[in-house]
Amino acid sequence: MKKKKLKQILDITDTYQDSRIDPPCPHFGQCGGCLFQDFPYDIQLKIKRDYLNKKTGDLWNFQDVEGAEPFGYRNRMDFVTAFGKMGMRQRGNYRRVVDLSTCLLVQEKTRKAFELLRPLALENEGYDYLQHSGYLRYLVFRQGYYTGELMINPVVAVNENKIGPLVSRIAESAESVSMLLSDGLADLSFGPVMEEVKRGYIHETLEDIRFRIGPNSFFQSNSPVALRMYQSIRDNVKGRTLDLYSGVGSISLFIASAVENVTGIEVVEDAVLDAKVNMKENNIDNVQFVCADVVDYLAEHGEEFDTVVMDPPRAGLHPKVVKRIMQAAPERIVYMSCNPITFAEDARHFVEHYTLDHAEAYDMFPQTPHVELIGVFNRK
Ligand SMILES: C[S@@+](CC[C@H](N)C(=O)[O-])C[C@H]1O[C@@H](n2cnc3c(N)ncnc32)[C@H](O)[C@@H]1O
Repeated sequence: MKKKKLKQILDITDTYQDSRIDPPCPHFGQCGGCLFQDFPYDIQLKIKRDYLNKKTGDLWNFQDVEGAEPFGYRNRMDFVTAFGKMGMRQRGNYRRVVDLSTCLLVQEKTRKAFELLRPLALENEGYDYLQHSGYLRYLVFRQGYYTGELMINPVVAVNENKIGPLVSRIAESAESVSMLLSDGLADLSFGPVMEEVKRGYIHETLEDIRFRIGPNSFFQSNSPVALRMYQSIRDNVKGRTLDLYSGVGSISLFIASAVENVTGIEVVEDAVLDAKVNMKENNIDNVQFVCADVVDYLAEHGEEFDTVVMDPPRAGLHPKVVKRIMQAAPERIVYMSCNPITFAEDARHFVEHYTLDHAEAYDMFPQTPHVELIGVFNRK
């Protein structure tokens, strides 16, 4: 997290000093995964609301942030294996790893598998991401909240399986195992599938829609909160709908029953393939997925839609995307965001031609400073 943002959040926590409690996790304070365990959950929501209003106050005044399960919610955790340790980066120090005995943010099945596999993983050669040498970079755990299916992917730096016994033990604990290759200098916990050891995907279900999720496809990290947000998006869409940054098609497929048709745009080919499988498996026939950069797609087809839904990465919208959406002038824009700062920057452009008629905030990541938003903009 950027130092400035962290400082602003910590300044807000100062106003709730008297509410501090003992954090439940023994690693709290050191581990970079959590920031708020020493506040009761209702206070965490107030801290997030205050921060949000600081960032977006000129656009919308949030009365509250909708809460979630405070612990055991995460669908995904990337545990780094380096320097003879397995865990998370130290708070405020990316160069250090905190050796975790447990993690309270992940779901119970993931936590138990992590605790079981950690000693075995540590018997293997980790990866020194400062010197760029070694082998095992990460163990990535992904679990469907509603299906319970667990995927564990070792991410390695050399195109060779040197961890046969560990992989066999992993396969006993998980429904899906793939070895991923990440052999560049960048610290990536994903990469091409080097070896599919056991069924290369898991499922998640939201209402009656079943999603297949592969090792390199994005899926929201908190399924119950994603479900609430998708329901809200579905309540606000109509007509011919464009879903920008569609990932494995979760929003497109979820809202399909409420609209005339949906076109999902996603740049990662694997995600588009998953999205197409998901569409077929769910017998949905008014959705199409296109593998393209949103900038290019909008230039060609932007004007063909009544509603534009989007859920961009944390960096928000590229200025060209904002410009092209404004040129396309859909009746309605439904903007889901995981970053209040970029949401506010983009929304300030939208409100020159649109009215922000509704906004909501959700706590997708309890114990952390992150907060998610939905804004509904109608053309003036
Ligand atoms: C926050 S995820 C949203 C996924 C999906 N909407 C969901 O709810 O699961 C952002 C997605 O945008 C995709 N993406 C990033 N830049 C893109 C671009 N320029 N054009 C198309 N897709 C892009 C990423 O690959 C990722 O799947």
